Amino acid sequence: MAQTSLLRQLGFSARLGITLILLTLLGGLTVSGIYMKMHHENRDEQPGLTLNDIRGHYAGVITPSPLLNAIERGHPEEQSSEARKVLLDWLKSNRISEDYDSLDLGDLAPAEIIASDCLSCHSAQSTGDDAYPQLPLDYFDQVKKVANSSDIRPVDTKILAASTHTHAISLSVLSLAVGGLLLLTGWPRGLTNLLILLMGTGLALDIGGWWLARLNGAVVPIIVLGGVIFAASVALSLLLVIADLWRPGKIA
Ligand code: HEC
Repeated sequence: MAQTSLLRQLGFSARLGITLILLTLLGGLTVSGIYMKMHHENRDEQPGLTLNDIRGHYAGVITPSPLLNAIERGHPEEQSSEARKVLLDWLKSNRISEDYDSLDLGDLAPAEIIASDCLSCHSAQSTGDDAYPQLPLDYFDQVKKVANSSDIRPVDTKILAASTHTHAISLSVLSLAVGGLLLLTGWPRGLTNLLILLMGTGLALDIGGWWLARLNGAVVPIIVLGGVIFAASVALSLLLVIADLWRPGKIA
């Protein structure tokens, strides 16, 4: 059932003032959205804002070395176990660049093993059915790219605390204001109450998720879900309030 709109009983200047404030708020929220995308999107190597970027920020991401993975799964098949062990030890050490073509290791230097065991297939010039020139291992620069495991550390606790302190307070006050205005409109209570519930749920899931994700990375999609619910319900509420302020017709 439609409610009496208290907002529409306000004088013209108050309604205009509230409208301008809300439009500014909408603008601010749009810019925050764009800023958030720019801030997070380059964390992993894939273009655009991916779930992995957000996971990196809140939970950290470890991508194991593709080289280590391949060798651990027994690739290539024909390789002596001695050579395999040398490569494994090397990849697990912290001396990937130092030991790559270490003279002390002689024929057992990783560079030598790669030359004899891998380059038949993994050279930019390799041809043949088994060859895989897409992943050339001729030079250290090429090897290095797949040798290192990448480790994205989560955001520092102090920074997260600073961000929580500003966002938890400002966004909850913002939601209270928007929710309050919504209750003064003439929109049916079923709609206004649902939007208020969604704002609260979205905000709590989003900001609560920032912290829970540090304990368990599986929480990360909830941060995104909470953020989407929050942003959508706030934006829709703002539009409904503005529409109510200027709805033509007799004031009920
Ligand atoms: C007989 C040819 C051959 C030899 C020898 C060979 N590779 Fe490969 N390698 C391939 C092919 C083909 C692929 C792509 C298909 C696959 O992933 O199995 C590949 C894939 C890979 C990948 C990528 C796996 C991924 O996750 O995408 C890595 C890393 C790799 N090789 C490392 C090595 C290293 C290190 C050696 C030497 C110790 C080596 N390969 C020897 C043929 C070879």
